[in-house]
Amino acid sequence: MARFGEAPAPDALDPAERMSVDELRATQLERLQWTLRHAYANVAHYRKAFDAAGVHPDDCRELADLARFPTTTKADLRDNYPFGMFAVPQEQVRRIHASSGTTGRPTVVGYTERDIDNWAGLMARSLRAAGARPGHKVHNAYGYGLFTGGLGAHYGIEKLGATAIPISGGMTPRQVQLIQDFRPEIIMVTPSYMLTIVDEFEKQGIDPRSSSLQVGVFGAEPWTEQMRLEIEERMDMHAVDIYGLSEVMGPGVSQECVESKDGLHIWEDHFLPEVVDPLDGTPLRDGEEGELLFTSLTKEALPIIRYRTRDLTRLLPGSARPGMRRMQKITGRSDDMIILRGVNVFPTQIEEVVLRTAGLSPHFQLVLSTQGRMDALTVRVEARPETVADRRATASAELITAIKETVGVTVACEIVDPETLERSVGKLQRLKDHRTRA
Ligand code: DLL
Repeated sequence: MARFGEAPAPDALDPAERMSVDELRATQLERLQWTLRHAYANVAHYRKAFDAAGVHPDDCRELADLARFPTTTKADLRDNYPFGMFAVPQEQVRRIHASSGTTGRPTVVGYTERDIDNWAGLMARSLRAAGARPGHKVHNAYGYGLFTGGLGAHYGIEKLGATAIPISGGMTPRQVQLIQDFRPEIIMVTPSYMLTIVDEFEKQGIDPRSSSLQVGVFGAEPWTEQMRLEIEERMDMHAVDIYGLSEVMGPGVSQECVESKDGLHIWEDHFLPEVVDPLDGTPLRDGEEGELLFTSLTKEALPIIRYRTRDLTRLLPGSARPGMRRMQKITGRSDDMIILRGVNVFPTQIEEVVLRTAGLSPHFQLVLSTQGRMDALTVRVEARPETVADRRATASAELITAIKETVGVTVACEIVDPETLERSVGKLQRLKDHRTRA
């Protein structure tokens, strides 16, 4: 396995990473009380929502009191488009980002100078946990622009004392060329685009395992343990998970440590996590799976209270950073869940099975269609280049059986030639919905 799989020296950590749970909880309470007061005083939406729920910032005397406050949704941000959720005057806003959103208005977020500095610090902390060190070169293939991925990562790379290579997404042959020429140790990119880059190495006749890359910091979309094995094996590097969302900050809300690879440590000195039942919002205990909520603790321009991420996970105790809780790798978003004849199916469950099936590549799509009055799901997957014709038929049968056994649904499988399915240069959209609605 690649080098760079080691924990940072204890004195290289931020003081917050070494806090005891008690110290951390005290810091959180103080910051939470500030955030609630700041939001109530400066954002009409929060004042109205708190008043309607009959709560006031002064009612928050301990962390558990947060559960009495109303949640915030993406719809609240859209209703206050573009700047209605900002809590500071325009002249204090140094930067704006927006998440594209598949439908309707984008969600707009803003940052003060201090917000940007905190973000850079948390991204630097995340990169260090991933194994990056001052002096490393970081190939940053997250998209630059309104998306938070490119610029968010960029300032963290510089803050760490590493060298940023701001390549952004796209032009895959050039990505490979610059990796070969500049010899970066670290790559930051979505896992689906990493696969496209690995394929491009092979197309150019270069062994991807011989590249200079030692660690990939992958996020912005769900990916599985099986995908980690695939990328680590084909690239001979460590693959670690980074999570974040624009509404809460951007990349660097939580990060997996390279030495443990056991889920993502949430930087709890800046973000307070909760998990609730996705259907009725009831708080769940640590360890129980549900929808992740975040409350920002230090954000000035866009304080966010109990934001419903729609991401499904569970909270686990700290490990490599004992004071900070971890979140398990995201299972999926509640809106990506397919309900097939009453069974809930997540694309990640299918990914696990596809990658375990010999002869099948990690490139697949999920096609939903209508058959009679029922929904049907077809897994359309590329064969690996070396897969011979008769192996394809067995692989298809194996995939159908394995999905039936592990996920509990009957699907169809269509095996297609290598290089026929569309590739992403950023976030991949796996689901193709061809259902006809009655
Ligand atoms: O995707 C921020 C980001 C950039 C994170 C680069 C990591 C790396 P948004 O465009 O607002 O922000 O999308 C946020 O993406 O709610 C999740 O559904 C999904 N997501 C982000 N990271 C992960 C991850 C950025 N590691 C939405 N695993 C989130 C699973 C993720 N899903």
